[in-house]
Amino acid sequence: MIYFITGNKHKYIEAKKILHEIEMKHIPYPEIQADSLEEVAEFGINYLKNKVNGKFFLEDSGLFINALNDFPGVYSAYVFKTIGNDGILKLMEGIDGRKAYFKAVIAYYDGEIHLFKGICHGRIAMQKRGKGFGYDPIFIPNGSKKTFGEMNKEEKNKYSHRGIALREFDRFLNSQ
Ligand code: IMP
Repeated sequence: MIYFITGNKHKYIEAKKILHEIEMKHIPYPEIQADSLEEVAEFGINYLKNKVNGKFFLEDSGLFINALNDFPGVYSAYVFKTIGNDGILKLMEGIDGRKAYFKAVIAYYDGEIHLFKGICHGRIAMQKRGKGFGYDPIFIPNGSKKTFGEMNKEEKNKYSHRGIALREFDRFLNSQ
């Protein structure tokens, strides 16, 4: 059994569809303001490694919008809490290029740190569509017409940054 340290039920359900032998554990840890998701994830592992009994992983992700010079990027959680999807759509008004990507970094600790990454390219929708969590209603992955918010978890996993990182993590675990 491996613990997924997160307070985000959606992320846990997405992970459980790919990695079956996991359990959600909510232990708050500092999400430092750093230049990269990798640094945030590694800081989290170092903070948690003496507090969790057993193998565990955490995940840090962000939305990077081309026309906004990669904003919100590492500030994604704060920006979602403050201006939300409506705020992002407002910032995008009048901008033609709507390219964006999501990135996920999974950090796994089994005595040492292992990182698994996933990137999903796509674009920002003209308006919110569907449910999901976070920026799901405004992100359309390449290869689909639907936003993440209009997909079920299986379909989202096929395209998503998290699905890609989770499958790489799963391959690593299976090769152990
Ligand atoms: P964190 O990794 O939980 O810090 O996420 C950063 C921000 O990006 C939060 O506001 C999340 O809601 C958002 N986010 C992360 N992954 C996704 C996703 O798969 N869909 C939509 N929003 C996401």
